[in-house]
Amino acid sequence: MGRKKIGLIGAGNIGGELANLIVAKQLGDVVLYDIPAKENYAKGKALDLEQATAQNGSDIKITGTSNWEDVAGADVLIITAGIPRKPGQSRDDLVMTNLPIIRDVADRAKRYCPQAFSIIVSNPLDAMVYEFKRRTGANREKVAGMAGVLDSSRLALFLARELNVSVKDLRAMVLGGHGDDMVPVLSYTTVNGVPVRQLLAAEKLAAIVERTRGGGGELVKLMGTSAFYAPAASAVCMAEAFLLDQKRLLPCAAYLDGEYGYKDLYMGVPVIIGGGGVEKIIAIELDAEERAMLVKSAASVQKVIDVVKSQAGD
Ligand code: LAC
Repeated sequence: MGRKKIGLIGAGNIGGELANLIVAKQLGDVVLYDIPAKENYAKGKALDLEQATAQNGSDIKITGTSNWEDVAGADVLIITAGIPRKPGQSRDDLVMTNLPIIRDVADRAKRYCPQAFSIIVSNPLDAMVYEFKRRTGANREKVAGMAGVLDSSRLALFLARELNVSVKDLRAMVLGGHGDDMVPVLSYTTVNGVPVRQLLAAEKLAAIVERTRGGGGELVKLMGTSAFYAPAASAVCMAEAFLLDQKRLLPCAAYLDGEYGYKDLYMGVPVIIGGGGVEKIIAIELDAEERAMLVKSAASVQKVIDVVKSQAGD
């Protein structure tokens, strides 16, 4: 029995860190793909990571390539292809740049990896994952977007630091689109079951909610490009849940077909990820304020999806 195969589409900052984490967790062999102009970069990064296995004791193989045939048959695809944000840009500003890229990736994924569980990271996240599913025609169980895990990680960290408690005990939940009006759901955010609303004053919570919403932008401002360690850790969490059939309840961008009152839309909702991919969408009750925020966030996502839909390209 061979090891699982994980195709990383995009050998940039997130791609490299994804490979690093996958090797550390020994989840499967890695194929690090980038476009032909970056073939040597992908090969070099793969070789560098593979040489580290002599020290970390992993037998995982890492291949750098610009040939989709090397990716063929992957069990999981994690797609970071596209241009990241620069300071002053919103994720939505990237739609016209990244749309042709995600379409090209979708066409190849459909041809070479029809069975894969695909995790999309490229921005604007919800529109890119929508287009990937539409273009590949894959079942909704097999295509998810990584955003809620990352946004929830940011919320968890900020709360843990403010409360001076271990981040291990934070259970945070951020739903909706991966944009400035994402929905940190405080009614489901607890320190091991203790609602954070009982632990922190409303104005402190409001400031943390705002910082979470701008969490990606804060890093773009600091680094001049977008984040990679936490995005990679979040995507690996989803890949691991699939590969190890963990049945984890995670906030992920999932295809809605009536759930939460939306149809033909991707956005962040709580889902169960296991060996079947997105096995289930969990309906949770939201309070009136959270519901209103979700409606607003969904409308923002819909606008970007409408831009995608209006661009011919079949
Ligand atoms: C972020 C990017 C990955 O939020 O969207 O950092």
